[in-house]
Amino acid sequence: MKAYTLTMTTRTYFGNRCVEEAVKKEKQTLGDKPLLITTGGVLKQLGFLDEMICWLDAEVICYDKVTADPDVMEIREAVKIGKECGVSSVIGFGGGSAMDAAKAAAVGIASDIDIEDYLLKNIIPPEETLPIIAIPTTSGTGAELSKGAIISSREKKIKSGIRGERVTPIVAIVDPTYTFSLPMNITMETGFDVFTHAAESYCSVNANPFSEMLSEKAIRIVGEALPRLSKDLKDTQAREMMSFASHIMGFNVKNIGNCLPHRLQYPIGISTETSHGAGLAALYPAWMKYEQNVNEERINRILDWLGCKKEDHAGERIKKWLDNLNLSRTMADLGNTLTADVLAGKVTGNLKNDKLADEEGIIVKLYQESM
Ligand SMILES: [Fe+2]
Repeated sequence: MKAYTLTMTTRTYFGNRCVEEAVKKEKQTLGDKPLLITTGGVLKQLGFLDEMICWLDAEVICYDKVTADPDVMEIREAVKIGKECGVSSVIGFGGGSAMDAAKAAAVGIASDIDIEDYLLKNIIPPEETLPIIAIPTTSGTGAELSKGAIISSREKKIKSGIRGERVTPIVAIVDPTYTFSLPMNITMETGFDVFTHAAESYCSVNANPFSEMLSEKAIRIVGEALPRLSKDLKDTQAREMMSFASHIMGFNVKNIGNCLPHRLQYPIGISTETSHGAGLAALYPAWMKYEQNVNEERINRILDWLGCKKEDHAGERIKKWLDNLNLSRTMADLGNTLTADVLAGKVTGNLKNDKLADEEGIIVKLYQESM
């Protein structure tokens, strides 16, 4: 059996309505200085933000202007507020973007280096990063466990990550009930993201027996729960299953990492301003078709666990599954106008997780076939 090393540093709370008790237990972690919450505008409208502030029972400063793929300008603003108020910890409350913003703000508040420099120069965040508490309200990114803050520079048309052990939240509080009111498009697209973390960590050269076990569990859950949710958004048991699958895949994203689709989605997302899940859905038929050439058994197992019908090749199988969930996209559907060569020139990050990356010209080929 393959030898492996894993790091589990995040104290985790999981369960319906577990948040109030969890934040009270974490008083010491939060410190006695003001706290910074990063979030989008929706949680305020839903009343979740006020409820959270009440439970925290502390001086709370809110940065509630986080957008999808948070921009360095937003992070700079949150960092400025955090520094002025002398905050002792940062809570990311919302979807992946809110948690990524919290991670980046926690790095920036404890540092004199501009946040864009971390992004562009691949600087590893220092030891003295502020404690990060992550409270997801969607089930998709697993950002509450992962060690990356994915942010963008719209000015420079770059989406990439600030990565390091100190970017990992020290506490994750996962309450599936927050996801119960998510609309269909967010439910489906974030749900597909869960599947991609499971599939890509399973195909990664870093996969090990522990991560493979988690991948299989997550894929089987998505294969059952996402089709159920496509028919009935009020299926709360399926919602809970998706929150759990998303959460355990945060563990794989941190320890194993993703393959080519995640690296290739970032340039599409930043140029078309479309969601992470939608971009991944556009890339998956081509990626699975070619990945099958280097990882045949694994790709076949993944598609069997997901419940895909047997077809000629993996690309067809995943395409039909996506069609059934109304998730199929092409890059043209997303509004892409860039050529495959231009997009390929914008791909950043570690490609070595994926055996397929060794094939000459594969990135251009994947973009071309996804157009
Ligand atoms: Fe993802």
